[in-house]
Amino acid sequence: MSGNTEEMADIIIEGITEISDVNIEKIDIMEGPEASILGEYDCILLGAYTWGDGELPDDFLDFYEEMDHINLTGKKAAVFGSCDSSYAQYGAAVDILTEKLREQGADIVLEGLKVELNPDDEDIKNCQNFGRDFIKKSLVSSI
Ligand SMILES: Cc1cc2nc3c(=O)[nH]c(=O)nc-3n(C[C@H](O)[C@H](O)[C@H](O)COP(=O)(O)O)c2cc1C
Repeated sequence: MSGNTEEMADIIIEGITEISDVNIEKIDIMEGPEASILGEYDCILLGAYTWGDGELPDDFLDFYEEMDHINLTGKKAAVFGSCDSSYAQYGAAVDILTEKLREQGADIVLEGLKVELNPDDEDIKNCQNFGRDFIKKSLVSSI
């Protein structure tokens, strides 16, 4: 909506590429990919801001529903998103997506990362660490 979650995605990718040369594809959910593409990847990071009263963004709904039909057993996954603590359901989209990934069999290797609005200096470090930790944990646990 306003670029905060995408900024997190880019910083997380920086963190991953700092310590590994894995192939990364960044896919914009607003371009309407089908959830079946998740089957093509070993590791999945989903990012979403929270909308409405603790809901997923509208652009995420089709993808989210399609996830019901995708078996993610053996995939390493984690979720991140920008949030706003002035709302009661802080970063609920991160929790909703984490739960869905888990239900579909993914191995959640890190607790979801929630950042207040636009990442500040400390958040930037946390996003970089999130990327590093995600790939470390994913690669170690897949050996
Ligand atoms: C109508 C509306 C509803 C929102 N509801 C929530 C909410 O329930 N929980 C939350 O943490 N943030 C909520 N937000 C805040 C957004 O998640 C926040 O602005 C976020 O930084 C947007 O991320 P983006 O820049 O990636 O689009 C809401 C924002 C708007 C405009």
